[in-house]
Amino acid sequence: MDKATFRCDALVVFGVTGDLAHKMILPALYALCQDGRLTVPVVGVALEDWTKAQLIERARDAVDSHDTGVHATTMQRLEGLLSYVSGDYAQDSTFTKLATALKGCKHPLFYLAIPPSMFETVAQGLEAAGIAKGARLMVEKPFGRDMKSAAALGAVLRTSFAESEIYRIDHYLGKEAVQNLLYFRFANSFLEPLWSRDHIESVQITMAEDFGIKGRGRFYDSVGCLRDVVENHLLNALLLLGIEPPASQAPQDLTDAKVHLLKMIRPLTKANLVRGQFDGYQNEPGVKPGSTVETLVALRLHIDNWRWEGVPFYIRAGKELPVHVTEIVVKFRKPPVATFDATPKDGHNYVRFRVTPGLEIGIGARRKQPGEAMVGEPVELTAVEDTSTDMSPYERLIGDALAGRPGLFTRQDAVELAWKIFDPVLDLPDAPEPYKTGSWGPKALDTFAPPGGWINPTA
Ligand code: BG6
Repeated sequence: MDKATFRCDALVVFGVTGDLAHKMILPALYALCQDGRLTVPVVGVALEDWTKAQLIERARDAVDSHDTGVHATTMQRLEGLLSYVSGDYAQDSTFTKLATALKGCKHPLFYLAIPPSMFETVAQGLEAAGIAKGARLMVEKPFGRDMKSAAALGAVLRTSFAESEIYRIDHYLGKEAVQNLLYFRFANSFLEPLWSRDHIESVQITMAEDFGIKGRGRFYDSVGCLRDVVENHLLNALLLLGIEPPASQAPQDLTDAKVHLLKMIRPLTKANLVRGQFDGYQNEPGVKPGSTVETLVALRLHIDNWRWEGVPFYIRAGKELPVHVTEIVVKFRKPPVATFDATPKDGHNYVRFRVTPGLEIGIGARRKQPGEAMVGEPVELTAVEDTSTDMSPYERLIGDALAGRPGLFTRQDAVELAWKIFDPVLDLPDAPEPYKTGSWGPKALDTFAPPGGWINPTA
């Protein structure tokens, strides 16, 4: 059978008692059951000495806190699929029990929703128990901490699984709005003649979150903003804006297009980066005293190719900002001559993609104000405005992994090339600039800004 396309006949979730499973994975499994896309046994694995009844209780709680209007029959269907194996990942006996639970299954999907430090132990345990063969492995970010550790992690996973069997999740790629970046770009011919240095002045990607680190101090203080959301989620959004048309819809062709672009993004230097830390971060539980970890970054990337030479790509991301919105603005150059209004500040056309919350695509234009004078005002043409709750990223990605659709997962060469861009500025010893919670970041951002300034999204 073609390794890339077989349908999995069981799902094993390592770390099923954890936070991610409660918030994202269990509700996604319920949604998959509702759509009839999950019909195979689901085995939860974790250290806790739980019974199947306790796992079912946890699943009910997870679904209840996520969805309103839970359907009893769907819940029963999910419960009927669940079983639980408790054990230490370092013990062979855990994998022997798992092998028994998987008896008769030929193509399980192993989902590692556990700290990366355990990936190697689990991959080896699966192999030693003889259940890695014919299976697929799904892993959660972070894929390493830098290029070297990412390469080492990739090598470890590939001792037990082939690259085509490893599905690396970046949940951003499962978002409807992020998929639309790719679709909107390559399904509309009107954009292509404009989509280059000839007409585009700059690109701004802003991920603003109006909350802090939500009790994840220990985790967050070991990663910081660059590693948490920029190197993965926001870089992926940038790639979809910047790539050349993929040769086909085939997953490998899309990845090849991304890899091609990644090779042309200049590694970041300190001069192209501002780091901030919100006031009070140091008092968060789990944060080391005197921590120099950033909770905000603003950075400027350059792409050395014919399409993008000279167009700055700005990324700004931070916690404790005034709104919870992720938005991308692709700003066109002004008309070369101001035939009407004398160079108004808002005279640029733009395309605005809202990624969170909901999905919006707007095209910024100018129109004449009613009246005698030839004076204009900005308007926005709405191409897409969709606030309905669609398929969650986890539902889409787990569904794809079960079905063997690798298009939304990250390949090892892309992982390493992404780190190569950020490696020079990881773990800088200097203290980040402080900023007030609820503000748009440190003062330094006033001078480190895209041409025309930052465009702050509104809620
Ligand atoms: C996660 C980060 O990967 O992405 C979080 O660890 C961040 O810090 C989250 O808040 C943002 O994703 P979303 O889908 O909630 O916008």
